[in-house]
Amino acid sequence: MTLCVLHVAAEMYPLLKTGGLADVVGALPPAQTQLGTNARVILPAFPAVIGGLTQIQHVADLGPAFGIDNVRLERGLLEPHGIVVYVVRADAFYDRPGNPYFDSSHNQYADSDRRFALLGWAAARVATGADPAWKPHILHAHDWHAGLAPAYLRAHARASGKPHVPCVITVHNLAYQGVFPASEFRYLQLPVDFFSVDGVEFYGHLSFLKAGLFYADRITTVSPTYSHEIQTHAQGAGLDGLLRTRTHDISGILNGVDQTVWNPAIDTLIDTRYSLAKFSGKAKCKAALQDRVGLARDDGALLFGVVSRLTEQKGIDLLLSAIPDIVQRGGQLVVLGTGDAALENGLKNAAQAHPQSIAVVLGFDETLSHSIIAGSDVVMVPSRFEPCGLTQLYALAYGSLPLVHSVGGLADTVTDASLENLADDVSTGFVFHHFNRVSLVAAIRRAFALKQRRPEWKAVVRRAMTQDFGWEASALRYVDVYRELVAI
Ligand code: ADP
Ligand code: GLC
Repeated sequence: MTLCVLHVAAEMYPLLKTGGLADVVGALPPAQTQLGTNARVILPAFPAVIGGLTQIQHVADLGPAFGIDNVRLERGLLEPHGIVVYVVRADAFYDRPGNPYFDSSHNQYADSDRRFALLGWAAARVATGADPAWKPHILHAHDWHAGLAPAYLRAHARASGKPHVPCVITVHNLAYQGVFPASEFRYLQLPVDFFSVDGVEFYGHLSFLKAGLFYADRITTVSPTYSHEIQTHAQGAGLDGLLRTRTHDISGILNGVDQTVWNPAIDTLIDTRYSLAKFSGKAKCKAALQDRVGLARDDGALLFGVVSRLTEQKGIDLLLSAIPDIVQRGGQLVVLGTGDAALENGLKNAAQAHPQSIAVVLGFDETLSHSIIAGSDVVMVPSRFEPCGLTQLYALAYGSLPLVHSVGGLADTVTDASLENLADDVSTGFVFHHFNRVSLVAAIRRAFALKQRRPEWKAVVRRAMTQDFGWEASALRYVDVYRELVAI
């Protein structure tokens, strides 16, 4: 019998994306389907989601919930893979312009607890038979937005006297927990005793992520190193105690690269396509990028690129401190990002001070993100912490050497161009170990030094481009986790 899994998430590429979560939810279900698992996805019916699906049809009326008169479940298809996507229709919650989490003034929506409780509740309804034509064996929740789904499954099992549908939660980022006032609990349609330390309660508040971590049967994180980090006091964000009690249920499974989207040989968003065999296109991508963002057209200038949310996590403050070192050495930097006003201003000021060498584009721009990954010599990811990180994986595939802080998934995927690693033929980029300027600048200097040694630089680029971070291996590991829970 085919194993069926329902992924529950807030975003999915190419329908709607604010970060790497969307890339994973867009790529993992097709990879699983290719390997023989029947994977479907359920999302809130945001306008961009509805707009990107074809053949949308009504599945079921789920009735009144969370103040919505009638929650409707619909189903559509996402081309080109033909993945079936369920959408939860509750226009008062989801039919709002812009970002799914913030209003136009960048404030969190006041009713996000109910908006995402509804997602988890509707997912549990699908898992327990709301679609007469399909029922999953496993529910797979992603991040806090889906964190209540496992709680609703337990509540349903208790009420029906049947065993609960097994569920897995993937932690993409422990820093976002979905914490709300305890007074909101009464709106969530959960049994009263679920508001407990053995349940959804978290230091007197309500936590969606804690609920997921408590009620899910298995927990995965998006890299092996992160699975260990989150069990420490330093990086456990208050949840390390709970996570340590579940240590045998936790696995770290590295994210992959969707090679239909991030592949320089077929990428239609970049200036010139290239591959290892036909590498001249990469220099053209660099020149096109310099032109596009207004940097001096100079093939000899080492070009550093950043594509990132501008938040504390991403270490942009540290990057700002190293800008003089890049400029003094004749390097260039291009940053594409959006986020904290202070970081945006710091970057803008740097660009104004060095217009030939520093370019900053504030906003979210899928096309420019590909141009930067392709056109840069070095892609920087100086994050304080990084559950997996995808841009360094894309950089490897494009032969743009990643420069990363040695944490989480960054530590698992990049090998430093130290002398001994170069001698052993294992280098794929630049890694700094201490989150401070001295350590970052030393890695930047290694990048400049390696660029002077053309054959060695080329060898590292070759090794980067031949790394295999396709989804297949990871998709198989998720199936192993599912198979521990269902005997099919
Ligand atoms: P995170 O999910 O923490 O933001 P990841 O590295 O896993 O970090 O994924 C980030 C994804 O979002 C990548 O696909 C990256 O290219 C994309 N991205 C981030 N910021 C922007 C932006 N300003 N414009 C376009 N794409 C962006
Ligand atoms: C999160 C993490 C990032 C990870 C992504 C996809 O947003 O910050 O490290 O790559 O999720 O799993």
